[in-house]
Amino acid sequence: MKYKISSSSFIAASDTFEKLPSANGPEVCVLGRSNVGKSSLINKLLSRRDLARVGKTPGSTKLICMYEVLFSENRSNAKKMKRGVLSDLPGFGYAKTSNVNRISWSKLLTSYLQERESLKLVILLVDVRRDLGKEEKEIIEVGKEGGLAIAITKADKVTKNELTKRKQYFQKETGLPDEAIFVTSSESATYKAGMESLRDLICSFFLPE
Ligand code: GTP
Ligand code: MG
Repeated sequence: MKYKISSSSFIAASDTFEKLPSANGPEVCVLGRSNVGKSSLINKLLSRRDLARVGKTPGSTKLICMYEVLFSENRSNAKKMKRGVLSDLPGFGYAKTSNVNRISWSKLLTSYLQERESLKLVILLVDVRRDLGKEEKEIIEVGKEGGLAIAITKADKVTKNELTKRKQYFQKETGLPDEAIFVTSSESATYKAGMESLRDLICSFFLPE
């Protein structure tokens, strides 16, 4: 862990991909099913209590939210910095969203993933207790063409034994190497190592300033 979070701030929010301002630097996006824990993970990764809005009910994040993130090198006397953008996307699979909305959302998401030049890494969040659905499988297909990582969320919700089995399931289903799959929890410090590795991965895509 060479770099630590130095600061993070809200840049912009948009309800459509077309209106989303271009990112000033490399961008990493967090996506996944509604309620999977995207906003919680972002807050945890950035060591912020409530930068991204967390909700008890699915559909809390209705806008695409961009945050600017600055990492600083861990050595106190050196002031090397890395900068980039982290984007929080609204969750898919939200029952109250109409079918039409869902289809157009999935098209827009695919073009964002394929065409957004600044996008360097896609972090797909999956609930430890849930099998991959159609949407996740589509994202994995598209995401594999660029940088893709899987963050297993809510690891605190299952036993250690169950967690091992679930990790194997995600490895098998996604075909991703071990290094691209992270076990995380926004509630329990037990999975701190997974969170830190994920933070290091994000930082590795950011550029020195
Ligand atoms: P949308 O914005 O609706 O798509 O949801 P989201 O994916 O941003 O999820 P959010 O972070 O709002 O969290 C949803 C719920 O899950 C909240 O009640 C969180 O407190 C809870 N939660 C998130 N992460 C964890 C976790 O690691 N462990 C446990 N036990 N609960 C979690
Ligand atoms: Mg959210």
